[in-house]
Amino acid sequence: MPDMTVKSHQLAETQSEYMKLTAEIMEIRKRGEKPLAFIRTYGCQQNVADSEKIKGMLSRSGFDFVDSPDEADFILFNTCAVREHAEDRVFGNVGALKNLKRKHPQILIALCGCMMEQEHVANRIYNSFPFVGLVFGTHSLHHFPELLYRALVDGGRVFERGNDDNQVYEGIPVRRDGNFKGWLPIMYGCNNFCTYCIVPYVRGRERSRDKNIILTEARQMIDLGYKDITLLGQNVNSYGKTLETPVSFANLLREIDSYDGDYWLRFMTSHPKDCSRDLIDAIAEGRHISKHLHLPFQSGSDRILKAMNRHYDRKKYLETIAYAKERIEDVSLTSDIIVGFPGETYEDFKQTLSLIREVEFTSLFTFIFSPRKGTPAEKLDDPVSAEEKSKWFRELLDVQEEIAAKRCSAMVGSRERVLIESVKEKTNELNARTSGNIIVELEGDKSLIGTFQEVKITQARNWILKGELI
Ligand code: SAH
Ligand code: SF4
Ligand code: F3S
Repeated sequence: MPDMTVKSHQLAETQSEYMKLTAEIMEIRKRGEKPLAFIRTYGCQQNVADSEKIKGMLSRSGFDFVDSPDEADFILFNTCAVREHAEDRVFGNVGALKNLKRKHPQILIALCGCMMEQEHVANRIYNSFPFVGLVFGTHSLHHFPELLYRALVDGGRVFERGNDDNQVYEGIPVRRDGNFKGWLPIMYGCNNFCTYCIVPYVRGRERSRDKNIILTEARQMIDLGYKDITLLGQNVNSYGKTLETPVSFANLLREIDSYDGDYWLRFMTSHPKDCSRDLIDAIAEGRHISKHLHLPFQSGSDRILKAMNRHYDRKKYLETIAYAKERIEDVSLTSDIIVGFPGETYEDFKQTLSLIREVEFTSLFTFIFSPRKGTPAEKLDDPVSAEEKSKWFRELLDVQEEIAAKRCSAMVGSRERVLIESVKEKTNELNARTSGNIIVELEGDKSLIGTFQEVKITQARNWILKGELI
């Protein structure tokens, strides 16, 4: 048996003991009928997937879940460090818990996730938020039950971070939030060190999960009726490179896609520097793979791409896009963009604008550069004012709105297969999504949530479509 399988197994057994002990303690400590936990998740799908593991472990420790911290015995914020704004929200929301803890001293308040892997943040929490009793980073997730137990019985505060052993631990229970839309992590960490980005520092080195474990989990999700499965990794294209028997991401996709069932298969995120033709072919030929490619380009200027350490240029990016458009009929393209990277001029920014006009993305995730402590870009000269950057940012949004509106109008009259996802409380309208990840609003009964339906697109309102059931 490989070493890690043995380690994972041993870990699962020890943690299982801690979960039992916590369940006993919580029977005494609970405020109401049952021990209750409140989990708030910030940041990307990786964090959402981590929170689903935390909920899995809490569930085995006897907890039920609530939507507000007021009644909870255990409150946990799973944090994101990617931009300053994300961190500020966490500090604000944690501060707001002070009175609750004063009123009910027996509750345990905890913080985990990407922010907590940064020493200066953990120190600030330690010094300024004495009512926070447990702090752990992304590398400590696999022994959360032990940390929780210690925080409950020790009386002292438990702070744990920074012990990345570059391993993948399996066998952690998962409690998924949704029953038809689900996340499936295939790898963790990132080796790319884009100069603006904190992720490699807080998530550690790139490591892939074993292919057979992923295949089993995918099969189980399909059998359980999941309709929309997203494979997760910071750079899915390098999946499998570090495994004992290397596997390419395109082949992993093909293997899952070969499973029968009524489902869509998605993935994120793909890095343009190694988004291969083979991957695009796999999407084009797939039976279940969404005709959607999220390919963040960040900037349209070669000078800025170089300064960002992205390892591709505008020409290579556009060649990949051209191949995707040629191979995948009606491909829906989305991207991430950073405005105002240090040293970016208006001329550079105009190249970002021209790139989005050329590609015509379905939608964009746009961000203003936020300096992150310890990254190379934090130390660069940044002469452009915040006001000026906001002006560019608004210009970008206006151009994208025009493109999205044009793309959506072109879909009016077409027939689309959509997954019905939710109901709008106020209007009773259903929200659905196309395979290309475009939102469609339509009239219908809420019993349709979680099913695929055929709709006719009747109207386009900016980037949202209106449709009718066929
Ligand atoms: N691994 C993914 C992205 C993860 S972070 C990828 O490489 O595409 C999600 C997005 O946040 C990034 O694509 C980038 O656009 C943005 N981002 C990351 N760091 C940022 C920073 N310091 N300031 C502003 N935006 C940032
Ligand atoms: Fe960050 Fe770059 Fe890694 Fe994405 S690929 S997580 S942007 S370092
Ligand atoms: Fe944020 Fe961590 Fe994701 S920094 S974007 S939650 S990997």
